Amino acid sequence: SRSLNLAVIPGDGIGTEVVAEGLKVLDAVLAGTDVKVGTTTYDLGARRWHATGETLPDSVLEELRGHDAILLGAVGDPDVPSGVLERGLLLKLRFELDHYVNLRPSRLFPGVATPLKDPGEVDFVVVREGTEGPYVGNGGALRVGTPHEVANEVSVNTAFGVERVVRDAFARAQARPRRKLTFVHKHNVLVHAGHLWRRTVERVGQEFPDVAVDYLHVDAATIFFVTDPSRFDVLVTDNLFGDILTDLAAAITGGIGLAASGNVNPDRTAPSMFEPVHGSAPDIAGQGVADPTATVLSVSLLLDHLGLAEQATRIVDAVAADLGERGTAKRRTAEIGDALAARVTA
Ligand code: NAD
Ligand code: IPM
Ligand code: MN
Repeated sequence: SRSLNLAVIPGDGIGTEVVAEGLKVLDAVLAGTDVKVGTTTYDLGARRWHATGETLPDSVLEELRGHDAILLGAVGDPDVPSGVLERGLLLKLRFELDHYVNLRPSRLFPGVATPLKDPGEVDFVVVREGTEGPYVGNGGALRVGTPHEVANEVSVNTAFGVERVVRDAFARAQARPRRKLTFVHKHNVLVHAGHLWRRTVERVGQEFPDVAVDYLHVDAATIFFVTDPSRFDVLVTDNLFGDILTDLAAAITGGIGLAASGNVNPDRTAPSMFEPVHGSAPDIAGQGVADPTATVLSVSLLLDHLGLAEQATRIVDAVAADLGERGTAKRRTAEIGDALAARVTA
């Protein structure tokens, strides 16, 4: 028998609602196996910040390190200044736990409505760099609020950081049947970072001669996400481009309510963290109408990361079957969770 020790951070808004369903499906898929799961829930997010001023205390960060993985709902609240929780909690976790591979798969499941007329087979994964780029907070402002204000956000790209994520993306491409990697950047304008990325892709690619590589400027990539998404297999890109592309990827494959992600530390020096791509959705929070499917699929990624591939696949199969029968009927958050839990046990 085996036991999993999970940290759970429901967070803000719909985060708490969708995490409850994710845990429901997790329990259901592990029922009758010899895998026992223990969870510790951490009260982090807007409530805690209002009560104590804390976003992520060091003591909590150290406790989190002791878990096998983390499941997170979403953070961010209209009553908390923008950036406080996003930077102080979510990005701090990604940086401190060295989640340099932000894995964001997109699949258009049969029967799912898409805004695209003729999408073809859509099944790709964006490998978004997770610890560098414009996200690091290397910047500053001068003369704030004056007509002469200057605001800088410097994108940090290191040879070490680029190489490790590029190598991971090549390995993922090599393990998939189509063995194709699309590198996305904007090296015609962002020449310093762009050329580091480009040289790195060329050099690391020599270790993967069976992977076909192509390149798109990020603006052109958005065209192909809409006109020809079936061309993509694995994509690799920087932190900010990857953020934007993966909301678009969600939109073409059934919506943000279906998009899962893993913040992966491939070296396993700290726990990886799994979360839906979406945010706390203040516009629908508290109504019980958020789609928990993205979180349920994130639980599948979590199980796969922990070596429970069979249970991970059962969740994906349950989602595929549910989506195939969903039609246009509106179901509540808990109803979708119940339906998925029932399917993984069946
Ligand atoms: P959002 O993803 O929260 O919402 C965008 C739109 O998608 C909204 O109309 C929302 O109702 C809808 N939506 C999102 N998830 C849904 C679901 N599961 N089911 C049905 N509809 C869903 O993005 P936003 O509005 O830009 O951000 C809201 C807050 O969340 C902000 O504070 C932002 O910083 C934060 N945020 C957090 C994360 C995260 O924790 N990983 C991700 C994105 C945004
Ligand atoms: C995401 C979110 C985050 C990001 C924000 C909330 C920091 O948009 O997970 O996609 O930009 O990475
Ligand atoms: Mn995002």
